[in-house]
Amino acid sequence: MSRPEYSAPPEIFYNEKEARKYTQNSRIIDIQVQMCERAIELLLLPEDQSCLLLDIGCGSGLSGSVLEDNGHIWVGMDISQAMLEVAVEREVEGDLIMADMGEGVPFRAGVFDGAVSISALQWLCNADKTSHKPVERLYRFFSTLYASLSRSARAVFQFYPDSSGQVELITQQAMRAGFYGGVVVDYPNSTKAKKYFLVLMTGGNMPLPKALDTESNDVHISKRERLKNARGKSLKNSRNWILEKKERRRRQGKDVRADSKYTGRKRSSKF
Ligand SMILES: C[S@@+](CC[C@H](N)C(=O)[O-])C[C@H]1O[C@@H](n2cnc3c(N)ncnc32)[C@H](O)[C@@H]1O
Repeated sequence: MSRPEYSAPPEIFYNEKEARKYTQNSRIIDIQVQMCERAIELLLLPEDQSCLLLDIGCGSGLSGSVLEDNGHIWVGMDISQAMLEVAVEREVEGDLIMADMGEGVPFRAGVFDGAVSISALQWLCNADKTSHKPVERLYRFFSTLYASLSRSARAVFQFYPDSSGQVELITQQAMRAGFYGGVVVDYPNSTKAKKYFLVLMTGGNMPLPKALDTESNDVHISKRERLKNARGKSLKNSRNWILEKKERRRRQGKDVRADSKYTGRKRSSKF
């Protein structure tokens, strides 16, 4: 199957129609959620602490919703206006900016406690304009990302490389920008479940986390469930979950509708 990044530049490919189709597809939602959960795990954030995270190529906010469900505050950047508009419609909690990651990460030094990027990095390996030099764009992106992270913060990218050459190209530019780390490949022997995670570290060279395989996955899921239960988190979309989410938004100074007896009642659809 032809890859989307070969068909058109991202801001063209993710037009209004594609942005809606993408965000309403339950299979895509499931996969993006799972991959973002795994990326958060690989970030090794301090336990029970709300962190400020950057979501690179945040799209319509599927990955961002996972960050907020895990109690984090996030800022999303994306090049596609249509994807960002769907994120706004979905009333995500994150602040959103329209920006091309190849132009660099436009934030103050040291502001983020971590960064995630789900299914976006491979787009940077393409040259969509004659002025685009993938090596230069990757280097500018990684060096400005490095600067925007607090020391000892990590950045985790789930991405779809088209070859081992692309993995090498990306890793080389990340290391050149000052990061330590490398690629963790989950389920390396499964064509369907195989996933690439680039794990980048700022605070010195630490061993890479262990990749998942079929056996350890069961342990991984039950451990995550246990942790959630232990923390007493509310079930997603329940009244309590919505009340907690609204409270977080109020603390961020956002305009939030008052709670009522209707809060958390089932509605037909968000769209
Ligand atoms: C497959 S979507 C993933 C969106 C979101 N992370 C998720 O998990 O649903 C990839 C996103 O990467 C964005 N993207 C691609 N190239 C980009 C670039 N150069 N700068 C910023 N965003 C980019 C696209 O616009 C698209 O929204």
